[in-house]
Amino acid sequence: MGQMTIKEIWEYYKDDLTSAEDRMSAILETVAPAISAVGNHIFSAGGKRIRPFLAILSAGIFGARGGDVSTLASSVEFIHAASLIHDDVVDGAHLRRGKPSAHSIWGNQVVVLVGDFLYANALRLANLLKRQTVMDALCTATAKMSEGELIQLSKTGNPDMSEEDYLKIIRGKTAILMSAACQGGAVLGDAAKEQEQALATFGLKFGYAFQISDDILDYRAEEKVFGKNLGKDLEEGKVTLPLINLLRDADDGELDRVKEIIAADTIAEKDLADIQDLFDKHNSIEKSYNKAASLIHEAKSELDIFKDSMEKNSLLTISDYVLTRKK
Ligand code: IPE
Ligand code: IPE
Ligand code: MG
Ligand code: MG
Repeated sequence: MGQMTIKEIWEYYKDDLTSAEDRMSAILETVAPAISAVGNHIFSAGGKRIRPFLAILSAGIFGARGGDVSTLASSVEFIHAASLIHDDVVDGAHLRRGKPSAHSIWGNQVVVLVGDFLYANALRLANLLKRQTVMDALCTATAKMSEGELIQLSKTGNPDMSEEDYLKIIRGKTAILMSAACQGGAVLGDAAKEQEQALATFGLKFGYAFQISDDILDYRAEEKVFGKNLGKDLEEGKVTLPLINLLRDADDGELDRVKEIIAADTIAEKDLADIQDLFDKHNSIEKSYNKAASLIHEAKSELDIFKDSMEKNSLLTISDYVLTRKK
């Protein structure tokens, strides 16, 4: 079976996605006007809807479609959106999905509460499924995401962060939710335990690679396409894989300079440019990319146990897209 392009996949599963979106919109229509205002702002700004797709495609492998699948899809996107709203407050980020971030329009008070509203409703939606495994996976993901963000915060400005620490953080903040989306889809498809596990592991590895590619894009994307400000991680003193690679490979003189930049409260254009030059010199971006590529390779091989299908092929295509995406 020939592989569809990522665009064709988006188009083909549009209806499944639309029912999830309708679900989300209905919940946003509440008595508190701030909820629909902030909610509509964030959901209409774009967003790739990767997590709903992971849920839809994982369920689709087993032929499952319809109501429960869109409930799961809307639940994972709600958790994701809540985490973005809160994350932008924590990171002091002003651009999200190419638009001003929610807190820069409505202020922290309102948007933190809207984030809570989305988290709570995500779990309420998940609960409607009455599948203990799915509920478990989503509750665990939500808890681990906060843990991941908290550990990350505690490591701000710390140049001693190891690759192992980094992987632990991104597992929590990104990979576990993607894993839960896939596992949840498998459960709704009444998968055998081994199949459910394969999709959970696929999602986990996919998620690690997805965050590594985000961390590369933070340095190398085209800002207009990416929809987020570049160099943000460095500015915040967030030590991600490109920087970890550089800190390992730089010579002593370079190391002093890199550490000085990481520790600084603000950074100048020159600082970012110097880091970019050092990345080039030591192939720090390329090494990060190779790590993402090897995780994607491992993720894809988890799907070997499934027979060929449109959904399996789509998961393979989305996996490749993680390595080529520009936003
Ligand atoms: C952004 O996630 C946060 C990360 C985990 C890197 P996405 O890149 O999926 O964001 P949207 O939903 O497409 O805006
Ligand atoms: C946070 O990572 C991911 C979340 C789970 C919110 P980032 O801080 O790198 O995400 P972006 O770059 O702001 O989307
Ligand atoms: Mg952020
Ligand atoms: Mg980022």
